[in-house]
Order: sequence, then C-alpha cells, then structure tokens
Amino acid sequence: MQPSSSEFSVDLSSSNAWLRVKELEEQQHSLLKSVICGFNQLLDLRDLNTGIHSTRLAEWAIRVARRLGIPESDLYQIEVAALLHDIGKIGIPDAILKKEGKLTDEERALMNKHPEYSWSILRMFSGLEKASLYALHHHESYNGAGYPGGLRGAEIPIGSRIVSVIDAYDAMISNRCYRKGLSHEEAVKRLMDGGGTQFDPNVVQTFIEIAKQEVADVFAATGASPSAVI
Ligand SMILES: [Fe+2]
Repeated sequence: MQPSSSEFSVDLSSSNAWLRVKELEEQQHSLLKSVICGFNQLLDLRDLNTGIHSTRLAEWAIRVARRLGIPESDLYQIEVAALLHDIGKIGIPDAILKKEGKLTDEERALMNKHPEYSWSILRMFSGLEKASLYALHHHESYNGAGYPGGLRGAEIPIGSRIVSVIDAYDAMISNRCYRKGLSHEEAVKRLMDGGGTQFDPNVVQTFIEIAKQEVADVFAATGASPSAVI
C-alpha cells in the first residue's frame, strides 16, 4: 500500500528535524572546540610553558584512558581536563604564580584554590560537566592527603587520577629556568614511588607501560623531543 501524502510529509519533516538537530549539535561541538582552543591560548599567553605542556598532557591522557578501557564517550572529557585543568591559575596573582622562592602558608592556600577556580570556569559550559569535575579533583592524592576534597582511592574521579599522574610526569621532565628536567627514568621511578600514596598505582603502571612503547610517538605528535622538553 502506498503511503498517503500526509505520511510522506511527517517522514520528511522528522527527517529534516533530525538533520537540523545534527547540524546544531555539530555547531555546538565546533563552538566548544573553539572555546577550548581559546582557553588554551590564554594559558599560553599567561605562562609560555603551559600551552605545549597541556597539549602533551592531552596526548598522554587519551592514550592512558584508552588503555584503561575508559569508554570512548568519556575520552573527550578527559582530553579537555588534561588541556585545561589549570585554567583556574588565571585567577592567581602573578606575584604568587611566578614566585621563585617558597610560598608562604597564605600564598600556598591561595595557590591551592586553582582547581576550584578551574571547576568554576569549566562548569559554565554545557557539555563539559565531567571535565570540570576532573579539573576540580586533579590535586587529590590517592591516600586522601590532597585537596580540595581530601578524596581517596576510587572516590577520586578516574579522569582526575589520570591527569594527576601525567601532569606530575610532564612537570618532572620539563626544564625550568631554575632547574633542569629529570630524565625519563628518574621521573618514572618517582611516579612508582608515589603509587598508592600520591598516585593511583594502576594508572601509574598503565602510564609506564605506554611510555615504554610510545614516548617517542607522543613527543613527535606534540612537537618536542624527550631530550629537549620545554
Ligand atoms: Fe594544578
């Protein structure tokens, strides 16, 4: 039996509506991507090291998350958290952010607010709810001694546990004006030492397995080499 013209018009309009929804979704995704790139640029302007550091972290984060079997749908949230977990540092005065000596207790307390600032920025964007949560908890310690929530073990969102490990690794191997970066081997040793106290031991183990095979790939993909880390 042939469908009536009204049946055709229903099908056509629902198909158009579906296409329009897809189009809007793509526009929203593309806008969100631009915002994320803009924020990353902002971080770069504030501290020249941060942009490259963040890009490398995003590369590591996706590789570790995949190996841990995290659903593909969550990888984007982890990637964004790896890129922008420190965006809240924009709210920390330069006198503290760039201080070369030891921070006073008061300065340290202010500095430790940056994960909450990151959360308060990222949560404003529809679609980045998980990423904002991962950013909020990226300085928690596996043994509960971190901040801001003093969460421990599996209470800490997995995206935060991943960012914590790769952030520490990348910071350790990066050269700073006041010190030379550690070797890959020394950084891996320190991560292992921190497994179970500061870091999730399973994430550390997974990262080390990947790093063994893929360290050269990651640095090639992000425009640097392990021996010339900015
Ligand atoms: Fe941080």
